[in-house]
Amino acid sequence: MSFSTKNINDFWNKIELKNSPPKFVKKVSVIDFEILKKNCREKKEFFIKSIIKRMYSGEAFIVRNAAKKNLKDIVLKLAKSYDKKYKPSFHKMLDNTPNFHRIYDKEVTKKYSLYAIKHSYFFYNWNIKTKLEKKLKEGVYRHWRYIKYLAGNGMYQYEKNIPSDGQIDRLQIVNYPRGGGELRDHVDPRQNQRVVSGLIMSKIGEDFNSGGFYFRDKNNKKINIEKELEIGDSVIFYGSIIHGVDVVDKTAKLNWKSYQSRWFIGMFVNDSNHVKNRVTAKDLTGSVANKKTG
Ligand SMILES: [Fe+2]
Repeated sequence: MSFSTKNINDFWNKIELKNSPPKFVKKVSVIDFEILKKNCREKKEFFIKSIIKRMYSGEAFIVRNAAKKNLKDIVLKLAKSYDKKYKPSFHKMLDNTPNFHRIYDKEVTKKYSLYAIKHSYFFYNWNIKTKLEKKLKEGVYRHWRYIKYLAGNGMYQYEKNIPSDGQIDRLQIVNYPRGGGELRDHVDPRQNQRVVSGLIMSKIGEDFNSGGFYFRDKNNKKINIEKELEIGDSVIFYGSIIHGVDVVDKTAKLNWKSYQSRWFIGMFVNDSNHVKNRVTAKDLTGSVANKKTG
């Protein structure tokens, strides 16, 4: 007896029809990555359905040790080498688009669908060439494939896609600098990947002192969970739950050149720029040009 990707997708479709999506976090639980992995590998129907139901009802999970601790070294080395080798630039998600890095400051971010102050490094699978890039990919996918599976996508779906296929995997290393790094209230699109996931690469109290990841609860109160997070954990949840990153060390002096900051790896299946009317994340604060919410 096995619980296939199609069964998982059907189960999601069924519960999504029955109830409206969660807007607020109800509970934050901790689960060990090895337990999640084992149950997925063995296609444990009861376990998988229960996780799905819990996520759709507004429960988020901290997945302990989703990445190995040394992934942080790889992330920092990669960021440093990109900073040295390439000027900041921007490229749309079209065929043959290169990896690149870009600083999103107060002016740049206004042009986007999300208000984020950050320095991001973007990686696409068709550009994974160097040893460090391969290590980044391995370090992220060892966990991401199971998240895709839980989300009803199948472990390897999209992995080999190129932009003209429509949907593509994108890895984003994010540096939220002390003294301004933030990501305001938003929800993420669910049509390509129902479950949002990201890897924590810094420790509050060591790399920075305040701010970090939060959800909104039913009273619209921020529930900051940064203190519960360890390097190598991931946070997974259904993308309609409002979340963000509180300003990292608000009173510090902003320094885009510093590597002592809050680091994070985002992984997402994006609509490429070959897709007409592509769906992107939505800001809920009115901070950016696109003020539509939904
Ligand atoms: Fe998000």
